[in-house]
Amino acid sequence: MNPQPDLRAQLRRGVRVIADHQAASGAYPACQEFSAYSGYCWLRDGSFVAEAMSRQGQPDSASAFHDWCDRVLADRQGQVATLVGQSRDGRVPPITDMLPTRFTLAGESGSDPWWDFQLDGYGAWLWAVHQHAARHRLPLARWQRGLQTACDYLAEFWNTPCYDWWEEHVEQRHGSTLGAIYAGLKACSSSPGLDSGRQTRAADAAARIKHTLLTAGVSPGGQLSKWIGSNEVDASLAACVVPFQVVPVGHPTAEATLAKIETDLLAGGGVHRFRADVFFGGGQWPLLTCLLGWNQARAGRAAQAAELLAWAVAQADSDGLVPEQVGAHRRHPEHQAERIAKWRPVAKPLRWSHDMNLILAAELGTTLENR
Ligand code: BGC
Repeated sequence: MNPQPDLRAQLRRGVRVIADHQAASGAYPACQEFSAYSGYCWLRDGSFVAEAMSRQGQPDSASAFHDWCDRVLADRQGQVATLVGQSRDGRVPPITDMLPTRFTLAGESGSDPWWDFQLDGYGAWLWAVHQHAARHRLPLARWQRGLQTACDYLAEFWNTPCYDWWEEHVEQRHGSTLGAIYAGLKACSSSPGLDSGRQTRAADAAARIKHTLLTAGVSPGGQLSKWIGSNEVDASLAACVVPFQVVPVGHPTAEATLAKIETDLLAGGGVHRFRADVFFGGGQWPLLTCLLGWNQARAGRAAQAAELLAWAVAQADSDGLVPEQVGAHRRHPEHQAERIAKWRPVAKPLRWSHDMNLILAAELGTTLENR
């Protein structure tokens, strides 16, 4: 841990960590240094990385990632048409037939076993590509087949239970998964990259997701639920406010959700994923700390946001590399050793950790272009 890092130097390091490892294909590997992640790009991680690069003066890097996603999705347009057709005929496709969670850097589905059915990454990508195109005034036609494929897939399957952001509980419908899908379909509903039929289907599905989340997806305490029917929170739920805007900043549900995340999951400056987390003993996640900070910044609580950013940045090692999680506070330390034996030390540098530092810094006014 690096107690007083220079913020700009750390941000520059983060950009290098991301840019130097971006594949020639455009894919962002999650963490080449961690055997279980090596060789793969996740749409969820990659979309947040692209958002950071888009904001921090690296638009070509973000465009190259979106080009890669477009190719990956376009290659699967026929598969999605078949799946949608089956669903409309009343048949539920097995999850082994659905699109994977992660792809090899060449854009293949890969053959290593994984918890391979998550929907949120497709929503996060739709959200990120629209953000990027609007920010840099780029024509969405460049990514049209990818947009069509992801939109068709999510408009049909948004309500299907799937693994959450952490590859857990495939039997549930998760709040933050629905939030990401909502943001993606909401962007599609007025997208110049899509025809009016798709825009309408996306708008209908987005409205239904919002209704589901704000009725069945709220706990008795007023906060969003980890999954429909649960009374727990997960730190990823903050994304339902910022950036995914299922509920606006300041809305009572938004405030209750952030407050509950702070009460249950913020400890010693950093944020845990959820109370029952045992992965590597359940440490604090810099990227989730920044997600909370992003929310606090938008809610006008800049001092709190800056504190969260300072904590996240200080988790870098002496070489400026930020891990997936850190262990000063572990919720279930008794599980740490077993995970290390199975997975080896925590993933580092995790590109998603670096990019969330970059996003929160940009949100607080520090970009690498504005010196
Ligand atoms: C996390 C995912 C993440 C992946 C790659 C997994 O351990 O659960 O959320 O996308 O690592 O970073």
